Amino acid sequence: MSIKTAFIEGVASIEIARPEKKNALTEAMYQAMAEALKMAHQDENVRAVLITGQPGIFTSGNDLEDFLQRPAPSPDAPVFQFMRALVQCDKPLVAAVTGAAVGIGATLLLHCDLVYLSDEAHLAMPFTRLGLVPEFASSWVLPQLLGPARAAKALLLGDPIGPQDAVDYGIANAVLPAGEVLPHARRVAERFRTMPAGAVLATKQLLRRSSRAAVLEAIEVEAEEFRRCLVSSEAQQALQGFLRKT
Ligand code: COA
Repeated sequence: MSIKTAFIEGVASIEIARPEKKNALTEAMYQAMAEALKMAHQDENVRAVLITGQPGIFTSGNDLEDFLQRPAPSPDAPVFQFMRALVQCDKPLVAAVTGAAVGIGATLLLHCDLVYLSDEAHLAMPFTRLGLVPEFASSWVLPQLLGPARAAKALLLGDPIGPQDAVDYGIANAVLPAGEVLPHARRVAERFRTMPAGAVLATKQLLRRSSRAAVLEAIEVEAEEFRRCLVSSEAQQALQGFLRKT
């Protein structure tokens, strides 16, 4: 299984573990993450969720081979179940990012509450270069966080965001040496174990109250455009080019 889950000290952890493909996400992996998030949301013993990748790579995003094989994911496809489960999870979401976060690997971080990056991490959203459009409400969230000019650099040009910029833009909390990211993120997640659970839950709901509906709507609007692009010849050529290393 390429998603490892565990429950320790009040923290449900979700570890992306497919290093041979740079943690590229398949349907089965989205499904496993969606289920883990729904359980974490419902289980009162879970006080926080910790999302991690592998040393040197958080995730390279959607499996590009899957994009070619399944170009028209339905609104109920595992990827959309995962997006909704992440957005609707009322437990604090803590992310430990020890390497590249590409595509949905970067956009999922926009919906986490506390994000820690290694000094080797970066966030890349190369959608346009793949003949695609932004997903996971990034076209809605990023202009608000970064302003329109920097959002255009990240989404239109697909230029990566470095770790210190991610902190400066309010996407992440801190940059740490690679070996310290996961232990630090875990310590932060474990702090919620002894905090008043009701107040934490209500605070998270308040923090997300004004954005949730807009985020869910943006996910749907983007998905329609994304599906249209995925079958276009420009996307097909770009995806095949990556996989054939041409
Ligand atoms: N989907 C499917 N396979 C992927 C993948 C992805 N998103 N990302 C990497 N892989 C595979 C490669 O095809 C390669 O497989 P192989 O060993 O069978 O040839 C293996 O993972 C290693 O990848 P490689 O590119 O050689 O590693 P790298 O360290 O040089 O680069 C990345 C790492 C993440 C920068 C690079 O793999 C990359 O850019 N991946 C694509 C990211 C992307 O565009 N994601 C989708 C955005 S919508």
